Amino acid sequence: MSALHFYQNRQMELFAAKETKRLTLRQLIFFGRSMNEERLVKSANYVRSELTVRIAHRLRDMQALPYIVVTQDEVAKVYDLYWTAFDKFRSFPPITTMAENIKFCTFVRGLLNEHASVIPALSLGFTFSSPYMPSDQLDSFMSRMLVSRISRRVLAEHHIALTEDFIKGSTKGRPGRGALTRNASTHVGIIQTELSPKASIERCVDLLRKYPSSVIYRDPENPDSKNVPCPRVVVDGHVDTTFAYIREQFEYIIFELLKNALYATSYRHRNETTPPEIRATISTGSEEVQVRISDQGGGLLEPDISSPSDLFSFSATRNMMRMEDDRIEALRKTILSPHGMRATVDEQLERWHERDPENVASTGPLPRLGIGLPMSNIFATYFGGSLRLVSLDGWGTDVHLKLPKLGTKLEGVEV
Ligand code: COI
Repeated sequence: MSALHFYQNRQMELFAAKETKRLTLRQLIFFGRSMNEERLVKSANYVRSELTVRIAHRLRDMQALPYIVVTQDEVAKVYDLYWTAFDKFRSFPPITTMAENIKFCTFVRGLLNEHASVIPALSLGFTFSSPYMPSDQLDSFMSRMLVSRISRRVLAEHHIALTEDFIKGSTKGRPGRGALTRNASTHVGIIQTELSPKASIERCVDLLRKYPSSVIYRDPENPDSKNVPCPRVVVDGHVDTTFAYIREQFEYIIFELLKNALYATSYRHRNETTPPEIRATISTGSEEVQVRISDQGGGLLEPDISSPSDLFSFSATRNMMRMEDDRIEALRKTILSPHGMRATVDEQLERWHERDPENVASTGPLPRLGIGLPMSNIFATYFGGSLRLVSLDGWGTDVHLKLPKLGTKLEGVEV
């Protein structure tokens, strides 16, 4: 180790020894509700020091991996990205004015973009590393990495959104109102305070139906054939429910679940003129909002999958489908793409269809990266919720999503 490395590592250890200050959704909302310059500067400094500590924790975690794992190209790439980000955050001077905060937001936005390929890179790196780590250890490492990454992006994006809203409010001659001036009743930073699960489900259905060739089964032997009919999605239960949540995260999960349900149903009922409908049922209790998505797509059992929870695993030992050539190829392409992996459902579809915007029908199925379900599971757990897959073998799948609705749960255990 060179003297410089030794010094840098010493710095990392100093930060990694600090505790993180985990937040609840409610704290993020309350803090963001009434913004002024002083509070924004305070928020910027919190993000600056908190992200330095959170990245240091993950660097220390990566240093404890077996050497053969950290030297995989994709894992090494993520390690380098985090070192660079750690160094830049650590050396960013304290923010004292609004002008400095704006520079800070530009700096953070740049890093958010640079890190767009982290998830596919980790996913591929750990597919190849699976023989060298017990799968439980591999999955708990990935869970820490990904929950922590979500948490950092939430803090960063929330702060940027609060700043942008504040500036918009100020330029309209209402200084200091910030987030209150834009959709005051429904939106604080990146948090939707009255998110309607029904509206989100319908938005995802509309998006998916807009691009049937991406989600509905089509006979590969006969590419000229039409897609089989798109199953209907019925939304029922407590359809008037609203709760405070991050819309992008909620819709990421719903989009993924509906995409899988639509594909499985259209495949299983490919010879029928009217495939059975998919049912999305919403329920709201005193502490949680739940969504159950039920399909008749035949269930989840595959030759390589003995338990539905294996579909949440990043280990190729638990989920052999990770070693399929088309998945590895699709992951490689995503890592190399300048856009990396897009976070929102619109972006996922739009980027895919940019390949051939004139001819949406011929664009072909969305690439199967094998990331959607494990990431949905991680998103669900970030603020203390859960995702459970139940396979009714030979019949269909029920997926249960539970999310806390009071916003009082702290972010994931290790961030
Ligand atoms: C990530 O996206 O991996 C991050 O850590 C984001 C942060 C550098 C702003």
